[in-house]
Amino acid sequence: MVIHALLAASLALTSLPAQATVNAPRSVDCSRVKCLALTFDDGPGEYTPALLKTLRKAGAKATFFLVGERVEKSPKVAKEILAQGHAIGNHTYSHAALPALLDYEILDELKVNQEVIEKATGLRPKMYRPPYGQTDERVLRVAYQAELAEILWTGTTLDWSLRDTKKIKAVVLKLAQRDGVILMHDVVPQTVKVMPEILKELKKQGYHLVTVPTLMRAKGLKAGTSYF
Ligand code: NI
Repeated sequence: MVIHALLAASLALTSLPAQATVNAPRSVDCSRVKCLALTFDDGPGEYTPALLKTLRKAGAKATFFLVGERVEKSPKVAKEILAQGHAIGNHTYSHAALPALLDYEILDELKVNQEVIEKATGLRPKMYRPPYGQTDERVLRVAYQAELAEILWTGTTLDWSLRDTKKIKAVVLKLAQRDGVILMHDVVPQTVKVMPEILKELKKQGYHLVTVPTLMRAKGLKAGTSYF
């Protein structure tokens, strides 16, 4: 009841029609409402279209960190992610552990994927997530050259290791927090399968499911800076 009253109040304040607010989460102001950013790494893959359908039905937006080699295999899926209002980030061309590479190799991993994503979707990402979460000062300096902000997370599900719908659901709900960023993988079928239940529960808890740029709108994203 309290959540409904707050929602009604925030809708009245924005003076937008309720329907527009539901369908256009970009207008969500995370300084006023409870936001959460769901993020999906390693795609696009064979389960991504099913996930997009689930997100669309729930009116939820998410962020996808794409691997260049996979974008080359499924450029249309990459384009569809963007068309549905989700955000796209760079997850390197070949899912490389960046700190192990030389500077020019790191730059190649990031910039080649920028080109691949731009060719497929028309968008040049402004953020990246380092594979395996492996990063350091040198990687960040190269990311600055590639004009990319680094996006980590507040909670990681380890869904690729759990491979169990009930466990994945439980861990996502446990990790959910206001202004949080949750790491999952759309290449894990169990994650995609259980997503309708997860979205239903998160919405019941009053979360607005938004993209990382929407979550960061007030603070902004700076190239070469690491967030979360
Ligand atoms: Ni990854």
